[in-house]
This record gives sequence, C-alpha cells and structure tokens, in this order.
Amino acid sequence: MKELIRKADILLEALPYIKKFWGRTVVIKYGGSAMVSDNLRSKFAEDIILLRYIGIKPVIVHGGGPQIGQTLAKMGKETKFVRGHRVTDEETMDVVEMVLGGKVNKEIVALIQKHGGKAVGLTGKDGGLFYAEKILIEGARVGDGPPEIIDPGRVGRVTRVHPEVIHRLDEGNFIPVIAPVGVDADGNTYNINADSVAGSLASALKAEKLLLMTDVPGITDEKGQLVSSLNRKTLQEMVADGVVHGGMIPKVEAATAALDGGVMKVHIVDGRVDHAVLLEIFTQTGIGTEILP
Ligand SMILES: Nc1ncnc2c1ncn2[C@@H]1O[C@H](COP(=O)(O)OP(=O)(O)OP(=O)(O)O)[C@@H](O)[C@H]1O
Ligand SMILES: [Mg+2]
Repeated sequence: MKELIRKADILLEALPYIKKFWGRTVVIKYGGSAMVSDNLRSKFAEDIILLRYIGIKPVIVHGGGPQIGQTLAKMGKETKFVRGHRVTDEETMDVVEMVLGGKVNKEIVALIQKHGGKAVGLTGKDGGLFYAEKILIEGARVGDGPPEIIDPGRVGRVTRVHPEVIHRLDEGNFIPVIAPVGVDADGNTYNINADSVAGSLASALKAEKLLLMTDVPGITDEKGQLVSSLNRKTLQEMVADGVVHGGMIPKVEAATAALDGGVMKVHIVDGRVDHAVLLEIFTQTGIGTEILP
C-alpha cells in the first residue's frame, strides 16, 4: 500500500510541470551518444511518447555524425571538421542525405512506432519545412591578420522555417522526427548541424524549451566543473575564451537563436543518462546545464 501511495506522490510531483507545459512544444535534439545503446534508445522513445500523451508536443531533430562517419569510412572517404562542422563535398553530401534522411531518420521513426507512439520522418525538404543557404566558417586568426575564412562545401544554415507541416502533424498526434538536411531556392542540398536546425525550429515554433542532448554532463568551465545554470552573456565569454569549443559551439549558437526567438529556456542534457528527457523536464534542478536569456 505504502509503495502505491509513493507512486501516486511521484505522479503528483510532475503535476505542476504538466500544467505549465501542457499544449506547449519542446524541441529535442537527439544526438550521437544517446542513440548508440538499445537501452538508451528505448528509454528515449518512452520519454517522448509519455510527453506526447500528457499533452506536451515533442519535436525531434536528430544528428547522426557517428553513423555518417562509419558509412564514409566503409567507402574509404575521410572528412574533417572545422568548428564542429563537417566539411562536405558533393559526394559526401549524397552520403549525408542517405544516412540522415534515410537510415537514421527511419530508425528513430520505427523506434517510436515500436514503443506505441506515432511518428513521421521529415527533412527540411518535406512540406518545405525549412530552407537553407551555404555558410562560410571563420577559422583561427593568422597572426595579427583577420580570421581565416573556410569554405566547408555543402554546409548550410537555416534561412526560413515554414512550420505548417508540423502543425498538420500535430493535429493528428504525430511526433515529427526531423533530419538536418535542407535545400536552397536553387535546389542545392545542404548538410546542417542538427543543433542549429533545432535552434531555428524552436524559435519558429515558439517552443517552450529546447533540449540539446549530448555526450557530456553539460557545459563545463575552465576547471572542468559542470555549470548548472548560465546566461547568454557568460556563454559568449566562454566561447571567446575558448572554454567552449568544437561541437559545443553550434549548441551555443542554437541556444542563442532559440532564446532570441522567445524560447524560455535551453537545456544541454547528458544523453547517456537513462530518461534524461524526463529528468530535465519534470524535476526542479534538472540534470545538465540550463541556459537563460
Ligand atoms: N565547455 C565545454 N563543455 C562541455 N563540452 C564541451 C565544451 N567545449 C567543447 N565541448 C565538446 O563538445 C562536445 C559535444 O558536441 P559534439 O558535436 O561532439 O556531440 P553531439 O552534438 O552531442 O553529437 P552529434 O554531433 O554526433 O549529434 C563534447 O563532447 C565536448 O568535447
Ligand atoms: Mg554535434
């Protein structure tokens, strides 16, 4: 009996959060490490389905860096990274689209369906969800000179979002699962960092939250200590000082875009933790780093 009452208490603890977030959208970037083990994949799917059933609207944007890397390796093709972006030539772009929009996307859709949810996979191309343009990347400063400008090939950023297709899916209680592949007005396809896509969508959908799942406990400071809460300004300083670098940079940019667009909070969450999504949304302190305006 006591055990049962304890269960009721646990459910009730979630009530304030359910009330607050009911009917609201939460954009979740599902990243590399949380995708690797069967256990974590199942827990992730359960969390997402639970959110949907209690009236919160999850929108999933996924990465797939490791899966792209594996496929390219099988083909004997190497790629390099600049500031967290994969340098993408035409041939690599084809592989990226096949792996992200095909294999990885459909695996996540099937995973959610298997656990009893309804999911539909999309890229930016589907329903004109988002459009992209090519980016150039600012590299390191050479001496006193200006920073080196690097052309990463078919790497883009989101220029426009047309959320209509998401609203249509929502009406049918479908969970959108989005691969970070977009197209420009001329029909060129671009590989976009999944964090950036998640940031742009969170902003366009006026999401309550943006959750970026990753392979570390959160953002760490210069001493390697986890920072549980910080604002945009502190984050910019950490980027300038080089404390935040590599794959964390697109997350910072995504967080900034989302907060600029009116998203209330951005969370960087450890995807290696069981039920990371539920822990972040339904507990007071959360588990990772929260970024506030
Ligand atoms: N200050 C920092 N705090 C935490 N991580 C940092 C920091 N600066 C750089 N990083 C790096 O950012 C990485 C996370 O980005 P990364 O792109 O590698 O993974 P991901 O985005 O979670 O997965 P994927 O890109 O495969 O979807 C961490 O593993 C860490 O090495
Ligand atoms: Mg990344």
